[in-house]
Amino acid sequence: MPFLRENSGKLSPEKIGALLVVLFPIALLAARALAGGFAPADPFGGAALGPGAGGGLGGGGLGGGGLGGGGLGGALGEEPALGARPLIEVIRFVGDWTIRLLLLTLAVTPARRLFNWPKLLGARRTLGLGAAFLLGVHFVIYLVDLGDLGMAAREIVLRIYLTIGFIALLAFAALAATSWDGALRRLGGIWWNRLHALVYPATALGILHFFMQQKLDVTEPTLMAGLFVWLMGWRVMQRFGRGTGFFNLIALAVVSGLLTAFLEAGWYLAATGIDPARVLAANLDFTYSIRPAWWVFAAGLAASLASELVLRWRPLPVRRQARA
Ligand code: HEM
Repeated sequence: MPFLRENSGKLSPEKIGALLVVLFPIALLAARALAGGFAPADPFGGAALGPGAGGGLGGGGLGGGGLGGGGLGGALGEEPALGARPLIEVIRFVGDWTIRLLLLTLAVTPARRLFNWPKLLGARRTLGLGAAFLLGVHFVIYLVDLGDLGMAAREIVLRIYLTIGFIALLAFAALAATSWDGALRRLGGIWWNRLHALVYPATALGILHFFMQQKLDVTEPTLMAGLFVWLMGWRVMQRFGRGTGFFNLIALAVVSGLLTAFLEAGWYLAATGIDPARVLAANLDFTYSIRPAWWVFAAGLAASLASELVLRWRPLPVRRQARA
């Protein structure tokens, strides 16, 4: 399998690891389908998505029941059981993993740098293609569920969240089609890089689609958006040569967490008219859930600390350190 090897011909642990990550949701889906449902706990599991264990916005409200979800468990959470419309549940399951793989793909570049691990780049293409594959499955199952191409086309035009998802899908199709070495040679490095910068707006559109199709509880989209903010913030810092300084990374964790909290409050204001002060205050109430802003902050903090430890043990070359 040449795609699992380094240029030298040696097997690449990074590429093998990436392939296993991509196969994981596929295996999980197959296992659940074979078991006749999605009942067994997701390894990331927690409360089911939806208005949520805490009562949610519709039930106990912000003050009583909290903002639904159930923290990271609910956010990354256990998918709902394959129920009355199994295909919709499969669409959701695959959509969730598409976003997760997209964010993992975007995390490769910072991780390479933060952990001085150049060979990690080998994992990026496999992860990206895996995400594109899942997206294709998400779309095809949507078409199968509707069972009518004309109706699907009308829905995509009429429902704004589907239009947005479809634009993202077209962008990812272009990226997947040009992800081979031959395409890089034909397009030339500059045009290839310009085209592949589409991954950022396309991921943002994917996350927006995720927000828009949630009926009430936006815990998981908010978490994904917050992690995306961190990943983009890191790229901006890196552009200014500040991508690996410990205190810069701590500042990035704080800012990303705060932006996540404001994003969540802004979304609820726009979607439901809830007073943003109440949504922001829910971040300080840990009775029912830990809000996504904290998880984003914690992930950023963990990345800062892990990078600090790893770079002590395996420092960057001096030329790069000077820019850190
Ligand atoms: C980059 C592009 C896309 C991404 C990242 C994406 C991701 C997602 C995610 C995360 C969900 C929610 C899963 C959940 O509720 O837990 C979802 C739901 C859904 N998506 Fe997509 N999607 C994309 C494009 C599309 C396209 C092109 C279509 C079809 C035209 C589509 C149709 C749907 C449908 C029908 C749902 C379920 C809505 C419901 O619950 O009623 N998506 N998608």
